Amino acid sequence: MATQILPASAETTDTFPINGTDFIEFYVGNAKQASVFYRTAFGFQLIGYRGPETGTRDRASYVLEQGKVRLVLTTAMRPDSPVAAHVHAHGDGVHDIALWVDDARDAFAKAVERGARPALEPTVQRDADGEVVIAGIHTYGETIHSLVERRGYRGPFLPGFVPAASPYAPAPVGLEYVDHCVGNVELGAMNRWVAFYEHVLGFRNLISFDDKTISTEYSALMSKVVSNGNGRIKFPLNEPAEGRKKSQIDEYLDFYGGPGVQHIAIATDDIIRTVTALRDRGVEFLRVPATYYDSVTDRVGRIDEDLAPLRDLGILVDRDDEGYLLQIFTKPIEDRPTLFFEIIQRKGAKSFGAGNFKALFEAIEREQALRGNL
Ligand code: FE2
Repeated sequence: MATQILPASAETTDTFPINGTDFIEFYVGNAKQASVFYRTAFGFQLIGYRGPETGTRDRASYVLEQGKVRLVLTTAMRPDSPVAAHVHAHGDGVHDIALWVDDARDAFAKAVERGARPALEPTVQRDADGEVVIAGIHTYGETIHSLVERRGYRGPFLPGFVPAASPYAPAPVGLEYVDHCVGNVELGAMNRWVAFYEHVLGFRNLISFDDKTISTEYSALMSKVVSNGNGRIKFPLNEPAEGRKKSQIDEYLDFYGGPGVQHIAIATDDIIRTVTALRDRGVEFLRVPATYYDSVTDRVGRIDEDLAPLRDLGILVDRDDEGYLLQIFTKPIEDRPTLFFEIIQRKGAKSFGAGNFKALFEAIEREQALRGNL
């Protein structure tokens, strides 16, 4: 069987409770400029800042927010910084998928006891707005999971950050929350990382796709999805599979310099409005051939949306037993073919768009070929 969807269990096996994604921190070459890009193109709002002017000497960070999505863009002030080393190795990319927990000390102790590699011992941070406890564990590559316990903290983000706003504030585009974050790992490493999330964090392996489901004429990949008990944290993990040519995962690993976050999927409740706004602001999306729309209704049945705007924008549709979903993928948002975003609207479906994989991966391969990397 090519795709295996495991029965959902009512039983929560989480090692510790996770309330959701607290923030996603990017290490970038120029956070000041990146913040303008994410505000202009994606409609994020600037809410906080930390840097030399506020007493942090070695780095500058901008906190952006839209709906429940919080991005932190951090840059190094000097070349000997670990932030600079990360950017040197990977280009702009995700360093931290931070998890919002009830008790960071307990979460850290349990995770480390079960085999997680510590990234940050539990640390109490305080300012006039209250107290936060933060710890951190390593995951694939140089990526970490901060464990953030907020204890009723009243400040804009974390202690040390000051509120920030800009008179330049393009309107939000309807991005609501982080739906899932996908990691690319090396050939043969996927099952090890699935086991890490199962054993260390108590997650469950919800769905498995083998290389027959996810293959084109040229390449293949394998993917498994792990999730926590309340489903707010979903991490698909991809590894390359043998194919006639270089897979998109190989291309990522090559240019990122190892495992890392491949894409961040953000949910909207009006994908046509959101994608129209993103397109008008210069965000570039992958396109599938127009013939995709000739057969889409045969494949997915009746949907609420008109086909014309979906075709015009290049939005993809897929259905599972529980409903359908609409999704679209940006091109990589750096010059290196690494991180990209997915915009997703769920109308009952809890899956990830397997019916679109082939058309989508062929679109990616056309881009790879243009880059000389297929
Ligand atoms: Fe996705």
